[in-house]
Amino acid sequence: MGMLPPRGSGGSRKLSFRRRAVNGGYATKPLVCGAGVIMKIQVRESDPVDAMGDSLAILLPESEKLPRTLRALDAVMDGWLTRYLKTESFRGKSGEVVTFPAVGIKAKYISLIGLGKEKTIDNEALRAAASKAAKNAAKLKATRATLVLPSLRKPKGPELGQAVAEGAILGTYRFDQYREVEEPPAELKQLDLILSSKGQAAAVKRGVDVGSKIADATCWARDLSNQPGSVHTPEWLAKEARAEAKTSGLKVKVLGPKDLERESMGGILAVGRGSINPPRLIVFEYGEPAKSGRKRPTIALVGKGITFDTGGISIKPSAAMHEMKHDMSGGAAVFGAMRAIAELKLPLHVVGIVAAAENKPGADAYLPGDIVKSASGKTIEVLNTDAEGRIVLADALHYAQCFEPDAILDLATLTGACVIALGSACCAVMGNDEALATKIRAAGDRCRERVWPLPLWDEHKKAIRGDVGDIKNTGGREAGTSTAGAFLSHFVGETPWAHLDIAGTAWTNSSQPYCVKGATGFGVRLLVELLRQWK
Ligand code: BES
Ligand code: MN
Ligand code: ZN
Repeated sequence: MGMLPPRGSGGSRKLSFRRRAVNGGYATKPLVCGAGVIMKIQVRESDPVDAMGDSLAILLPESEKLPRTLRALDAVMDGWLTRYLKTESFRGKSGEVVTFPAVGIKAKYISLIGLGKEKTIDNEALRAAASKAAKNAAKLKATRATLVLPSLRKPKGPELGQAVAEGAILGTYRFDQYREVEEPPAELKQLDLILSSKGQAAAVKRGVDVGSKIADATCWARDLSNQPGSVHTPEWLAKEARAEAKTSGLKVKVLGPKDLERESMGGILAVGRGSINPPRLIVFEYGEPAKSGRKRPTIALVGKGITFDTGGISIKPSAAMHEMKHDMSGGAAVFGAMRAIAELKLPLHVVGIVAAAENKPGADAYLPGDIVKSASGKTIEVLNTDAEGRIVLADALHYAQCFEPDAILDLATLTGACVIALGSACCAVMGNDEALATKIRAAGDRCRERVWPLPLWDEHKKAIRGDVGDIKNTGGREAGTSTAGAFLSHFVGETPWAHLDIAGTAWTNSSQPYCVKGATGFGVRLLVELLRQWK
């Protein structure tokens, strides 16, 4: 990288350069996560007048009455809060924000943030409002901010703390590693939460701790997916995994091409053959099947880790191809979930398996018409090299069975058909176990990473019967998501299994309440919510 021009030599445009260690234009160090990691969230029961933050935000349900806990603050402010609530300028409607200069307290600004009607307030509303508050504080250049939480009948306690922490951390996430940000928002390093009802601090704190860990892991997953394809190669992901093992107490094993050959993993090897970046099977392990004599459930999480999907020889159109750098988002969700599970010390044995490969049309690329032998022994007739995710997953799902798991869950940006069928409001679930799918749906409703079932029937299995091999890797245009699910069902044996197609939810092209354009980290919250309540 060349030297930067001298600064401050004219013009009023203030640029702040945040340079990183670079090598050939790309960062090579293991990443520090998004803003989340450095945000410390504390819980207090003090009076808002004594707030120590540079800015003070107050979450308010729709009402004209000033909450009792704000009376002292209102007095210092010469009645300004009461006046705001009595005028049209602030109603407390969801999404509403007003900011005005503060007097008589340490903070320079006060912001009122609407939560909507009290009976409509849920975790999602709190996440969105906390995100607004944190983004607003960052915009006001606060490095330490205070957030006053209302006294609600629900959510309260741990749920309140978790939702607020998730919203604040996920909402301020940015992927700014590669750009010179003009007037970057000040780094918000500390957020003090002030509670308006007594005796809840310990419970809220517990929730904040859980929410911070989950949000941190989600930011990591976003970071991994947002990296360019030329950076987050299979080996780069393996390096990230090994670095994680050093700091988290997770065990990590990486299988390279030689190991994959020894395991007869013809699927992942075939997909990776067109690239000079050879494939890896990355295996995390947390906990053990039995602890002090008591058996623990074993769960296998499997992620599609296509580090870039050009389509291979069946090459994709170029228009949105750049987005295919996030085709390893299922894998990223597994990375994030493994980190969170270890941080939260869940009483489970969890194996995380990521099949990482780059799908490219190279000199040695696999071809349409090829017949590939998967680790299970079943042969796959390749009709389209762009249906590569299911081929790498075939080997990863088969491998998962060595751990004799009680359940296998896979996450994959598997089909464009899923984006058409369900859009971005939910992911699809399919599998061989109704009860498991129902459990996942319920977890999705609770954490707001929602899930909707699609069928996986004999009709779909029939559509992928091979002509010259055991199964074809596409079943034509009809029911593309279900036939992809049917393909995967061949590789899980009798194990209860659920497949999540996250093609529509892993990436967003528009800013969401607590997610900017880019990778969403979808799946981390869902998996953690599911496994925290696993029985
Ligand atoms: N990674 C894509 C699916 C995808 C599309 C993910 C859009 C996210 C957004 C997958 O590998 C793919 O190319 N699937 C093909 C399968 C087809 C060839 C049977 C598809 O959906 O078009
Ligand atoms: Mn593809
Ligand atoms: Zn793909």
